[in-house]
Parts: sequence; C-alpha cells; structure tokens
Amino acid sequence: MDIREMRKIDHITETIKSYDNYKNFFDDIILIPISSSTSDLNKVDLNIKLYGKILNAPILINAMTGGAQGLEKYNEAFARAAKENKIAMAVGSQKAGLINKELIKTYSVVRKVNPDGLIFANISAIESIENMKRSVEMIQADAIQLHINHGQELSMAEGDRDFSNILNNIEEAVKKLHVPVIVKEVGTGISKEAARKFAELGVRNFDTGGLGGTNFPYIEEQRLGSSNHLLSEIGIPTPASIIEVKSVVDYNSIIFASGGIRTSMHIVKALLLGAHIAGLASYFLKKYTDFGEKFLSEDIAKMIMEIKKIFVVMNFQNLEDVKNGKIVLKNEIKEWIDQRI
Ligand SMILES: Cc1cc2nc3c(=O)[nH]c(=O)nc-3n(C[C@H](O)[C@H](O)[C@H](O)COP(=O)(O)O)c2cc1C
Repeated sequence: MDIREMRKIDHITETIKSYDNYKNFFDDIILIPISSSTSDLNKVDLNIKLYGKILNAPILINAMTGGAQGLEKYNEAFARAAKENKIAMAVGSQKAGLINKELIKTYSVVRKVNPDGLIFANISAIESIENMKRSVEMIQADAIQLHINHGQELSMAEGDRDFSNILNNIEEAVKKLHVPVIVKEVGTGISKEAARKFAELGVRNFDTGGLGGTNFPYIEEQRLGSSNHLLSEIGIPTPASIIEVKSVVDYNSIIFASGGIRTSMHIVKALLLGAHIAGLASYFLKKYTDFGEKFLSEDIAKMIMEIKKIFVVMNFQNLEDVKNGKIVLKNEIKEWIDQRI
C-alpha cells in the first residue's frame, strides 16, 4: 500500500477519533418561527434541480473515500444511501485512482450503484486539466469539485507546498471542462475575498468547507504526533463563510454549505443564511461506521422529514420560500458579520 492509500485510511480513523472535537457555530443562529404558518407537512416539497438532475432534498454526501484497497465498501454504502434518498454524493480525491488503475473501482462503484444519481468528481485544484478530465470520466461525473486545502497540505510532512498554479488551473477548468466546476474548501472556509477572485475566473459553484467540523490541519497534526497547533486554529466558521460568499457572488451561483453540518436544524439554518444545499461528510461517515448502511439510509430519510417539520414551523412550503425566512444572529457570528459584511 502506498503512502496516499495509507493516508486515506488514517484520515478515516482520525476523523472518527476526533469526531467530538467540534464547534457548533450554528448555535449563533436563531430561527424566527411563524405562528400564522399555513404550511402543510404532507405537501412540503424539498426538491431541488441541480446540474440537470432533480434531488429529493438539498443534501450532499460530501467527498471522502475511494483511494485505497478495500474502501469501495464506503463509497458503495454512500452511493446506495444517496440513491435511496435521491440526494447528491461526491467521491473523495481521485488522485490515487489516476496513479494506480487498480484503485479506480473504489470510485467507479458509485456510478455502478447509482447510474442516474447526481455524482461529483473530486481532485485538487493544483492538478492538471488532463487529470481533472480523467477524474470526471472515471465516474461519469455530473460536476467536479476542485478542492483547495492549503492548511491541510502545509500541515503534512509530505504535503504540497506550491500553490502558484491554482487560479490558472481553476480558470482553465471552468473554460475547458464540460461539467460545472465547484471550488471546495475542506475546513478552513471560503472568504468573500477568495470567492470574489474565484467568481472573476468564472466560478459559479462554491463549497464553503468552513471551520466547525472536520479539521484537516488538526487531523494532520495528530498524524504527525504534534501537539503544536498552528494551521488548525485558522478558519472561517461555516455560517460566516456562507454569508461571506453569498455577499459577493452572482445571484445564480450555487453555494454548498459544509463544515460541521450534523443535523437537520444545521441544514435549515445554512439554507436561511443563503446556501442552496448542505454537504455533510464526517456525520455520515460516523453513522455508517457505528451503525451500518441500513441505518445510514434511514437516518438520511429521518433528517429529510425533520427538515420538512422545521419548514412547517417557519411557514415554508418549498425551498423558494426560504428566502422569506427570518433569523437573528448572536455572539461570534453576529460579531463576525458586523465587522466583515
Ligand atoms: C475521511 C475524510 C476524507 C475526506 N477526503 C476528502 C477528499 O478526498 N477531498 C475533499 O475535497 N474533501 C475531503 N474531505 C473533506 C469533506 O468533504 C468536508 O469538506 C469536510 O470534512 C468538512 O465537512 P464535515 O465537517 O461534515 O466533515 C474528507 C473528509 C473526511 C472526513
């Protein structure tokens, strides 16, 4: 097994170990319920049309696995849960599959299980356009996530050090790939300055990957056995990142809220802040690891029903109505917005 495969397995183990190292910034958002709501639970419609396909609910099983022998069982379970609940899914970084053909099946299993599903490819923004194209082809992806993870790479002994190509690569990807390009952070969050830059390059899809949930610099520090926290302390809380991105991008851009989303309430709050869809990674990994595939799928169905119940209390009948929702911000997120927006 090469270093990349071993690292992926470490990431799964460390994610579960550090699962409670979590900060819930969503507590700083209060929903205003509407007692005069006339919404009907049986008719609440969470359908969203994205990249030409229709989802039952604005939920994404975010990028995690594939990339080491034996890991297809994770992607297979995630793909089946995504299919059963008609939600979106991304595979983990496909670099390992580009280097070693034997690992391709750990990713392509998702298309086999869910031939009509909304599935995203995933590769680093420092990769060449050829590798991006090959990643899309490997799983017949509907869109590609280009991940940006300076903090994680710099926290790794063997990580990348040179990010000078990323903006050129992203611009080329937007122009040359035949699928939508999603620029994705992995736990440090996208600022309004960065979002503006990406938007200038033609990017219309943003995955916030904010602070609060899985913290990859922290995981890499743990793998190194370092008690010195450096880059794991830097990050934009996910709710703040959603608001920052929303404040500068085109009205027709798509914002994925991710980083520390673990409940139906977090998802609704993220939508109220301006996100279109929520991506959950470690929460689904933990549920699958602890309780198995059947539980995972049922848990997603339960989450969707909970979102519908919150919608009734908020007087929403569909995702369009979320625009009329009212919230109050407090504490850290309120201070953040007062200073930054
Ligand atoms: C085990 C694991 C592996 C991951 N691998 C990738 C990856 O290969 N590419 C990527 O863009 N993000 C990767 N991520 C990051 C997630 O997609 C997500 O951005 C991040 O975990 C924050 O979401 P969370 O707090 O819900 O876990 C991984 C996350 C986990 C937990």
